[in-house]
Amino acid sequence: MMLRAFLLIAAVTFLWADPRCVGCHQSIVDSYAKTGKARSISKPKAEVQSQRQWFHDFSGRRMGVVWQHNKMTHWMEGRGTVESYEVEWAIGSGKEAKNFVVRIADSLFQSPLAWFGNRMIWDMAPGYVIDANPTFYRPLQEDCLQCHAGRSTPVAGTLNRYADPPIPEPAIGCERCHGDAAAHLANAQAANIVNPAKLPPPRRDAVCDACHLHGESRVFNPGKQFTDYQPGMTMEDVFTIYVARRNAEDTILKAESHAEEIAASRCAIATQGKLWCGTCHNSHREPADKERAAWYRDKCLQCHKGEPAETHRRKVGEDCVRCHMPRLRPFDGSHATRTDHWIRNKKSEEKFLDRGELLRAWREPPEPLRDRNLALAYLNNAERSRSLKRLREGLHLLSETVREGHTDGDVALTAGIQYLRQKTPDLALPWLQRAVREKPNDSLRRLQFAAGLASAGKAEEAKREAMEAVRLEPMLEQAYSLLAQIEPSRAIYWKDQYRKAAPRRNLQ
Ligand code: HEC
Ligand code: HEC
Ligand code: HEC
Ligand code: HEC
Ligand code: HEC
Ligand code: HEC
Ligand code: HEC
Repeated sequence: MMLRAFLLIAAVTFLWADPRCVGCHQSIVDSYAKTGKARSISKPKAEVQSQRQWFHDFSGRRMGVVWQHNKMTHWMEGRGTVESYEVEWAIGSGKEAKNFVVRIADSLFQSPLAWFGNRMIWDMAPGYVIDANPTFYRPLQEDCLQCHAGRSTPVAGTLNRYADPPIPEPAIGCERCHGDAAAHLANAQAANIVNPAKLPPPRRDAVCDACHLHGESRVFNPGKQFTDYQPGMTMEDVFTIYVARRNAEDTILKAESHAEEIAASRCAIATQGKLWCGTCHNSHREPADKERAAWYRDKCLQCHKGEPAETHRRKVGEDCVRCHMPRLRPFDGSHATRTDHWIRNKKSEEKFLDRGELLRAWREPPEPLRDRNLALAYLNNAERSRSLKRLREGLHLLSETVREGHTDGDVALTAGIQYLRQKTPDLALPWLQRAVREKPNDSLRRLQFAAGLASAGKAEEAKREAMEAVRLEPMLEQAYSLLAQIEPSRAIYWKDQYRKAAPRRNLQ
């Protein structure tokens, strides 16, 4: 009993709260603090297995975790070296999993080790399971924190540099769904703050989809970035998410996200948008395990009342989601599980068809951007998905876009990269230069331009651009590789320069 009481108190003191809303919305603030979102990023704590080591067959290295003096350290040993890093942040509440972040100078990187809270084990993080050469040097890019943190401070135009502190608001706070609360705090009334449930469906759904819908590709409108999206807007005011198109028009999509699955369900189609995330989920509260079955059943019965659902219910029982929304294990080798949100019957299952290679906008952006955004979606995705069809579609649309005169910096960059891939650097250079001119402090654009100059045989200029990329982002590994290619006789020198900029910790 004593121990239990102590644990409860300890748990309570860690709870997050927004002090500005507590006074008037106490119960919402209290229950929200217990959700995964309120603990979406945290300082590392002792996990249940606080000391642990294991052998990772695929890379032939030993991995380990140490918790000592309130600090977490991750280490890796093999091929004659030991590296160890102090962990700065944990991403994920750990209900499913936690990933960990290390900080070197002002850059953030992902640790290859993860904690799987659902099974209480340490293991390789998803994405490192079949990695023969895992490192602590995979950049933690800003999109990760845009979805997982309340607020982070990426340095514009860099891959993974952040201001100090990098994550001023770790928890996903009220304003990520309710928008800027300044007017409401000055004069509290319902009319001056966004309530997602009162928005028209595209704007309502956008509040959740902005973070919950990954899609195949996310394309920003010219000059826009993630933080420009605010609840109340449509997502397409800022970016468009592209998902795989179904293979035949009259078949149901094989979906891979909560939003796609819900949209493919008869319950959503037949009610024309009435069913949304907020029908079943209360954003401020998660049902406890023992109320779970009744909680979701009540949602189903909002629409499925009367016969034949009544008879069905008496026959099969009360836990509707156990059968209609079962838990799934994804195929990516991770330990995470998720719930199948595609509510369907056997008949619709028969109509199941694979996802096609073509993409479609989840919701279309404004007319002048349709071709442009779709072109970028295809081309940004073609390499990762290794789809020739996507590449071809993208190239076709890109030339349309250029012909129509929509040539902002992102289009210029994409066009330049395509010309480089086609081994026509002379055609690439004007585009890449234009992309750099638009954002002179963007390290990746500088790097691409440098690569273009190098392929065109302009070694001196290429070196200057690559060194500019290094100045903007001292830990940009690819810039040093490019410098080593430009100056093969000094390859070792550039490798050393990279080591100095990005010191391996505790090398033995
Ligand atoms: C001084 C008291 C006060 C504070 C502080 C306050 N609110 Fe409110 N809030 C209200 C009142 C009053 C209403 C209107 C209630 C009604 O009309 O039923 C309201 C309504 C809301 C609504 C519902 C709007 C709607 O259209 O349904 C939201 C969302 C909300 N507040 C969020 C917040 C958030 C987030 C904070 C902290 C950043 C906050 N409030 C701080 C008093 C406050
Ligand atoms: C587009 C938004 C988005 C991006 C980008 C994103 N995530 Fe997530 N992540 C989510 C959402 C939403 C969930 C929870 C819901 C789910 O499982 O679909 C989640 C779940 C997780 C979880 C499991 C948390 C738990 O215990 O339930 C971890 C760990 C995680 N993400 C880590 C990362 C890391 C690390 C990155 C960057 C390398 C990243 N995510 C990028 C949106 C995102
Ligand atoms: C994940 C998104 C999300 C977050 C984060 C969130 N809310 Fe909400 N909130 C909603 C939605 C959706 C509704 C509408 C609920 C409904 O009516 O179905 C809502 C409704 C409200 C309302 C008015 C209706 C009610 O339930 O009383 C208040 C007040 C409110 N939120 C306050 C807060 C405060 C304070 C926080 C931070 C502690 C917060 N919300 C965090 C999504 C969110
Ligand atoms: C700022 C990004 C963001 C927004 C906006 C957002 N979510 Fe989430 N959501 C997350 C992340 C990240 C997690 C995983 C939290 C964790 O680590 O457990 C999550 C978890 C969840 C979960 C799992 C239960 C939980 O609390 O862990 C549900 C359900 C959920 N979100 C529903 C919604 C709904 C409904 C909306 C829209 C009203 C919404 N979310 C808006 C990022 C977001
Ligand atoms: C018809 C009801 C229903 C709707 C609508 C719904 N969900 Fe869920 N959701 C569930 C159930 C049931 C679970 C499983 C809860 C559990 O296991 O405790 C769940 C779980 C989740 C989780 C936790 C991770 C997982 O997969 O188990 C997330 C995140 C989530 N839903 C997000 C969303 C989002 C985003 C939307 C809107 C696109 C949405 N849900 C719409 C019923 C629903
Ligand atoms: C917003 C209202 C609404 C909610 C909430 C809702 N449904 Fe439905 N559902 C419908 C409608 C309407 C249909 C279509 C009925 C028809 O076509 O005759 C449907 C169809 C179905 C079907 C048949 C699917 C198919 O492919 O033909 C199943 C199974 C089902 N619902 C189960 C559920 C379960 C389980 C829940 C709760 C987790 C739920 N529904 C919540 C409105 C809803
Ligand atoms: C033991 C598993 C189980 C449980 C529990 C269960 N169902 Fe079903 N349900 C089924 C099966 C099997 C079917 C037949 C549909 C099919 O062909 O897959 C069905 C059919 C349905 C349909 C009609 C689909 C159609 O084709 O018209 C609806 C609606 C439905 N269920 C809703 C519910 C609701 C609401 C609950 C909770 C009160 C519930 N079910 C509980 C297994 C279950």
